[in-house]
Amino acid sequence: MLRVVVMVSGNGSNLQALIDNVHRNPKVDAEIVLVVCSKDGARALERAEDAGIPTSVVALDDPARREVRDARLNGVISRMEPDLIVMAGWMSIVTGVFLNRFPDMVINLHPSLLPSFPGLRAIEQALEWGVRLTGVTVHIAEEAVDGGPPVLQEPVPVRGDDTVDTLSARVHDAEHRVLTRAVVLYSEGRVRRDPADPRHMIINDEGGS
Ligand code: GRF
Repeated sequence: MLRVVVMVSGNGSNLQALIDNVHRNPKVDAEIVLVVCSKDGARALERAEDAGIPTSVVALDDPARREVRDARLNGVISRMEPDLIVMAGWMSIVTGVFLNRFPDMVINLHPSLLPSFPGLRAIEQALEWGVRLTGVTVHIAEEAVDGGPPVLQEPVPVRGDDTVDTLSARVHDAEHRVLTRAVVLYSEGRVRRDPADPRHMIINDEGGS
């Protein structure tokens, strides 16, 4: 059973997708053992509690001392002995103190086809640029924000009459699909670094679920 920790900051619709499609799906050999939230009172915490999943709030009390917060993250998360840590709308930059504690175990979700539009406002940036195609990326989290090799991506076409709201709705639908698929692939042992080229991941996506 893959032990998954999910890190969230706000609404938690991606957490909900994982609860519904992974945690509660008897065909998927994975369970969410902890939800860590960067903000007290976030809707994501209610979603976890409704599903009976333990929660922990680890806030950034002092932005000048991110490492202190990250050491607390390490303690809270390592106690759960996770196999995979999913940043699903975790909106706070983490340092090497955290990422180096869990090498290759942390994946992040981003609402664009990276390397286009890293950082905040990815959907707005896609509309401002007038790109015809945007999408979503699940990638290995590394110290560079929205860096790290992609695990899965899904394109989302941009329509001429799209607004931030209409495009966001389709991007979020794609996020829920791609993040679920990524965790299922991990649960089936189908994701690994390419030994010949460590900048790339090898995904064995043939057959299986
Ligand atoms: C998602 O768009 C994610 O890519 C971004 O924050 C959003 C979180 O949405 N980093 P939710 O909290 O899962 O509803």
